[in-house]
Amino acid sequence: MANWIEGSIIENLHWTENLFSLRIEADVDSFTAGQFTSLGLVIDGERIARPYSYLSSPGQRPLEFFFYTATDGVLSNALVDVKPGDAIWIKQQATGFFTLDEVPVADNLWMLGTGTGLAPFLSILNTDEPWQRFKNIVLVHAVRTQADLLYQEMIAQLQQKHGDSFAFQAFVSREVIPGTLHGRVPGAIEDSSLQHAANVPLNPATSQLMLCGNPDMVKDTVAVLKTQGFSKNRRRTPGQITIENFW
Ligand SMILES: NC(=O)c1ccc[n+]([C@@H]2O[C@H](COP(=O)([O-])OP(=O)(O)OC[C@H]3O[C@@H](n4cnc5c(N)ncnc54)[C@H](OP(=O)(O)O)[C@@H]3O)[C@@H](O)[C@H]2O)c1
Repeated sequence: MANWIEGSIIENLHWTENLFSLRIEADVDSFTAGQFTSLGLVIDGERIARPYSYLSSPGQRPLEFFFYTATDGVLSNALVDVKPGDAIWIKQQATGFFTLDEVPVADNLWMLGTGTGLAPFLSILNTDEPWQRFKNIVLVHAVRTQADLLYQEMIAQLQQKHGDSFAFQAFVSREVIPGTLHGRVPGAIEDSSLQHAANVPLNPATSQLMLCGNPDMVKDTVAVLKTQGFSKNRRRTPGQITIENFW
């Protein structure tokens, strides 16, 4: 059983009406990029907690998490109002298998995320391991509107640091925005527009995929990938698709 410890809010960054990030100082144990922990607040005398993926990388301080204020989410609606200096409960040990240790060797790594599902990818990409293991890395962030395309500065820094081995592709589904793909990820894999935009081959012999975020995106993308010969990556039967559903 992981221990609860008390952390302190360093910063609450309100990005849009629904999206915000918290920076937290807490004496947590080391974790592996891609893992999640639990965050909690005492609300009406009871600790309410939910799992959240680390956006910050192992060893990085302050810790960082990316949130969506779900309309009926008691915790996210309380978290959005926390202020610097406020206390927050956090589990000392992280957990989860959405990590590079679980991903077999390949030339190309595709990271497909929606909304706050970007978080574990940024945690992983800000470590050295993916750049040592893969020739090409494609990060895809699919959102409804341009305003939801966050962490652009961090992504630009990754681009600058890793040059041609890194491709970033944004999808905006409910607005037409130049420089981004319009529509949804599964359709763009099916008609190869995503592969063309990223200029990286996507086939079972050379590629691994990590999918994170909206469970419907994960389900529909897996269905398309299966028609192209990909399979889910399991410990006993390695494949090419590693997934994390966010709700
Ligand atoms: N964003 C988050 O991090 C987050 C976290 C927890 C819960 N939620 C819940 O998700 C809802 C909205 O979140 P959101 O604004 O981030 O949008 P979202 O509905 O998760 O959409 C994000 C992107 O995923 C696409 N998408 C949705 N279903 C898909 C599918 N079956 N296949 C492929 N792509 C798909 C959307 O396209 P379309 O525009 O075409 O639908 C959009 O481009 C809220 O009800 C919220 O409670 C969101």
